[in-house]
Amino acid sequence: ACFSLGVMVTMNQRLEADTLLLVADEFGYKIEFSDADLEEIEAEEDMDTEEDLSPRAPIVTVMGHVDHGKTSLLDYIRKTNVIAGESGGITQHIGAYNVKLENGQRITFLDTPGHEAFTAMRARGAQITDIAIIVIAADDDVMPQTREAISHAQAAGVPMIIALNKVDRPSANPDNVRQQLSGMNILVEEWGGNVQSQEISAKFGNNMDVLLEKVLLQAEMLDLKANPDRNAQGVVIEASLDKGRGYVATMLVQSGTLKVGDYVLAGKNHGKVKAMLDERGRNLTEAGPSIPVTILGLDGAPTAGDKFKVYEDESEAKTIANKREQLQRELSIRTKKHTTLEELGRRI
Ligand code: GTP
Ligand code: MG
Repeated sequence: ACFSLGVMVTMNQRLEADTLLLVADEFGYKIEFSDADLEEIEAEEDMDTEEDLSPRAPIVTVMGHVDHGKTSLLDYIRKTNVIAGESGGITQHIGAYNVKLENGQRITFLDTPGHEAFTAMRARGAQITDIAIIVIAADDDVMPQTREAISHAQAAGVPMIIALNKVDRPSANPDNVRQQLSGMNILVEEWGGNVQSQEISAKFGNNMDVLLEKVLLQAEMLDLKANPDRNAQGVVIEASLDKGRGYVATMLVQSGTLKVGDYVLAGKNHGKVKAMLDERGRNLTEAGPSIPVTILGLDGAPTAGDKFKVYEDESEAKTIANKREQLQRELSIRTKKHTTLEELGRRI
């Protein structure tokens, strides 16, 4: 069965989870991974001990109802927090960027359009956000997309910080919003609850520094750590074909350090990292945990939410990439889908 699927193995070779799923399917069986199996698979991937771990920057997503000020908030942060002594802001669009605050601490913002990207990534099993800023215009009500954003954050177990925006407006009524939130069982700090919140004006920058301090406070409580001294792995934020440069992919490193020259497997695509750029288009030679980078050198554009991983061995990465492509083809011609690509993706 393996040979007919194009998977060359010997009798005493261990099969990978994704191959097992496919072979079982050949014989009309369905494999169920027990929680213990999944734990074992995860444990194999995650061998870091406490001493290996170093603090990493929080990864923050901004969500909220249309027109409540998400873009304004991100723009303000981007404009004001360029690293001291460096001229020029971030010129290109990039799906994620890392800012260094005056106190030297760093925060990574995911600048994906709305919460759709958040949902897409969640659906693909990629949990990348540490903290969600929920922007609510104080001159408006808690709107459907606000509720949706809140339920996404809650479902993902991601702590929220409520940003009550547009308080510069005379019609702003933040208490009205707090009231409506309490009706959803979300009690903000000022009202004796445990959800952090901050009144801001994203347009004029009022209290934006306080908001960022609250993000850092929340991050401290989460005690975010990763091992920088291993082969990088992380998630694809976005990817596209650039006329001059070939395929470009923005990746967020979650653990390890990504370096120029590394061999990367990202979803069904692979390739050697030819160059790495930061959000200002400057060349980097390496990127550690929580750092987003745009890489050149993949053989295609992986999908947002795909996991990526660096392989020592180029041929291993290629084999897995080919197998994935083949599995995907197999799956798409089968009517009974026993497994989803997200499940396959869980292997790396
Ligand atoms: P979508 O991307 O369309 O969902 O909107 P958004 O949430 O990104 O909102 P955006 O930042 O584009 O802001 C919408 C409008 O509100 C713009 O006209 C902003 O100038 C205005 N706005 C945003 N923040 C503030 C604020 O703090 N005060 C005032 N007065 N206006 C604001
Ligand atoms: Mg916007």
